[in-house]
Amino acid sequence: MIKPIVAGNWKMNKNPNEGSSFINDVIGNLSEVENVEVVFCPPFTGLNNVNINPPYYLGAQNCYYKDNGAYTGEISLNMLLECNVQYIIIGHSERRHIFFEDNELIGKKIAKVINTEIKPILCVGETKDEMNSGRAYDVIEEQLAKGLENLKSLSNVLIAYEPVWAIGTGLTASTDKINEMHSFIRKILNKLFKEENPYRIPILYGGSVNSGNADELISLDGVNGFLIGGASLDVVKFTDIVKIVNDK
Ligand code: PGA
Repeated sequence: MIKPIVAGNWKMNKNPNEGSSFINDVIGNLSEVENVEVVFCPPFTGLNNVNINPPYYLGAQNCYYKDNGAYTGEISLNMLLECNVQYIIIGHSERRHIFFEDNELIGKKIAKVINTEIKPILCVGETKDEMNSGRAYDVIEEQLAKGLENLKSLSNVLIAYEPVWAIGTGLTASTDKINEMHSFIRKILNKLFKEENPYRIPILYGGSVNSGNADELISLDGVNGFLIGGASLDVVKFTDIVKIVNDK
């Protein structure tokens, strides 16, 4: 059975000092966390002044696939490893749509991350237009196929299904839709990696998760946790979600 994961993607929020005291507050609010792994994903500047232990982990929001060199503005895996990063979000919809990352680049990053002990969280999801024009399945299949094309195995890979229209909008996909998409993702993983059991791959849901809908969403069979934006910035909201998942 997959241990649920609750990951907070802070995006471009919280200075280093704010971040470390936020993490202390969250941990201080949560006495017994046994059934869930909690991942904090601060901006890069907030990774080096935090020292936490399981079930709490650090995640990065991005990385580059080169080891070092003339890549202004980028960050390498070695740099993140030295900050004890254990997860990396790859291909978040904001990276795809604001910074124009394509499936090919995302595939290179995933291939590089998988050679370290860091676990990549590959984000997939359709835009509103893609959904309305009936292309959601094709888009997600392509994101999975290209994102994972350089891998021999799925071990250590996590997927996050995040419909773009649900991110930061207060709209959540219906439970039927989430069930359908998570099953579809598992079907494609099975098609791409025939030897592997797709039920061993964690699939997180993301898109306006909050303490009001977390209980219903984590009860869905194929949902193994959450990737949370807005609600991960608030101590009470985030700890409430962690508690809901922990108590499930
Ligand atoms: P949200 O963001 O929870 O604010 O919708 C989710 C995400 O971007 O991962």
